[in-house]
Amino acid sequence: MKIIVLGSSAGGGFPQWNCNCRNCSGVRLGTIKARARTQSSIAVSSNGKDWVLINASPDILTQLRATPALQPARSDRDTGIAAVMLMDAQIDHVTGLLMLREGRPIPLYCTAAVWDDLTLGLPLVHVLSHYCGVQWHVLAPNHTISPVELPGIEDISFTPLMLSSKAPPYSPHREMSQPGDNLGLIIENKKNGKKVFYAPGLGVIEPHVHTAMRAADCLLLDGTFWSADEMIRLGFSNKKAADMGHLPQSGKGGMIEVLDAITGPRKILIHINNTNPILDEDSEERATLTQHGIEVAFDGLEISL
Ligand code: MLT
Ligand code: MN
Ligand code: ZN
Repeated sequence: MKIIVLGSSAGGGFPQWNCNCRNCSGVRLGTIKARARTQSSIAVSSNGKDWVLINASPDILTQLRATPALQPARSDRDTGIAAVMLMDAQIDHVTGLLMLREGRPIPLYCTAAVWDDLTLGLPLVHVLSHYCGVQWHVLAPNHTISPVELPGIEDISFTPLMLSSKAPPYSPHREMSQPGDNLGLIIENKKNGKKVFYAPGLGVIEPHVHTAMRAADCLLLDGTFWSADEMIRLGFSNKKAADMGHLPQSGKGGMIEVLDAITGPRKILIHINNTNPILDEDSEERATLTQHGIEVAFDGLEISL
């Protein structure tokens, strides 16, 4: 089983178009050691030709150009994307669907809560019905947690877990979370039992999430913010990380502390916001992560399990 990180940044990407924070201007000018990153998405395959796209970022076309494996060129018009699965309805995870409009109807796996947002708040499904159309496969019906097999994707099972995070700002459920607004995903290679747990938006580590984390061989977890009040301190927002559904890395009960208590899996942060000091590879914060055995995902990172 192979996983390719197509985009490792949070919404806005890195550098963000309108941002001149230390990180964004530093990476633009080359004054800090950091890599640019596109918005949040991964691809999973067992045979290297048929892929499940997990989240469809607005940067998808750039990501596909950078990832030849996703264009197997078996016919005049082709794609390696066999299906798209969504973890939530955030703009950075769904608007790439519009970029896939020239293809065949998109097999789309998402919960009823996310489908709701994509038919009402941000009606991409309606828009796409005038192009390729979307075939909805409901994920986690009745909020059940059971493995899903995808046609054409052999030897991999996908188990969605309900997470506590946030629906997008435009969603009617932003302030009243519904089950299925946010998912994590256990991706298992059925041939050898190896598991990845993927959760790009994670606000609270509930017991079932902790169990999934402990059982995994590799963790790809919410790395949005270093500190709880990062956006406030920079004067960019009045929202704390928790208000946006993200668990910060530092501080009591933060991601570093959570991960310290788990031994075994490879630990990787993903969905990094452009304000996060860990993007500067020479920063103290990055050194702290390294001391704790925690890696930071980058675009193009490949994981084989
Ligand atoms: C989030 O996950 O909170 C998003 O990255 C916000 C956004 O897309 O602007
Ligand atoms: Mn996001
Ligand atoms: Zn910035």
